[in-house]
Amino acid sequence: MLRRSFVVAIDGPAGSGKGTIGKALAKHFGWKFLDTGLLYRAVAQKIISFQGSWCEDEAIRVAMNLSESELDHPDLRTPEVSKLASKVAAIQEVREALLDWQRDFVFDCDGAVLDGRDIASVVVPDAEVKLFLTASPEKRAERRHRELVAQGKTVELNHVLDELILRDQRDITRLSSPLVKTKDAIKIDTTTKSIQESLAVAINMVEKRLKGS
Ligand code: C5P
Repeated sequence: MLRRSFVVAIDGPAGSGKGTIGKALAKHFGWKFLDTGLLYRAVAQKIISFQGSWCEDEAIRVAMNLSESELDHPDLRTPEVSKLASKVAAIQEVREALLDWQRDFVFDCDGAVLDGRDIASVVVPDAEVKLFLTASPEKRAERRHRELVAQGKTVELNHVLDELILRDQRDITRLSSPLVKTKDAIKIDTTTKSIQESLAVAINMVEKRLKGS
């Protein structure tokens, strides 16, 4: 029988540092890392590539047939994909189609770190460590803006902030697996913390749990 690994679930809104901290945490412990947002982004990107209007059935079909290689598409981080990803992520059947993939990821390895919106609440509700990362909307928008500029995009900081607030709203208010901090999750506010400081807090939480305290 396959053994479930030690799991660190990291949830939080866009730009809170989940990906950066999650990846570094997995590297620190020599574990696997899954950015679950990529699954929703890959569905959105594929729909955009069809170049027409889309419907829920199409999104569900794309999600059911998604292959791993599609997670490497170079355009998954564009603002257009971000916006559509949060729309397709609100469709219950899309989420169901992507659930087994995420759950299978945590088997037969020493440890796994997953970041997303519903990891602690739905994907792995019995995860050993649950972290909820957050930061002020302004700080998160600033980070996203910096990333986009680094990719050579010309975009106003205010526009990034407005889009981020809209995406937060969609993710928090949707009926199906909304972004939520579970009661047992530890909150880390990264607004005024460096990556190293946030990472140190996360490593400390995991080490405590590994030692069984
Ligand atoms: O994390 P990232 O910003 O890449 O996620 C893109 C979108 O995918 C989010 O805005 C959210 O709507 C959706 N998502 C989700 N559940 C997850 C991960 C991402 O609904 N576990």
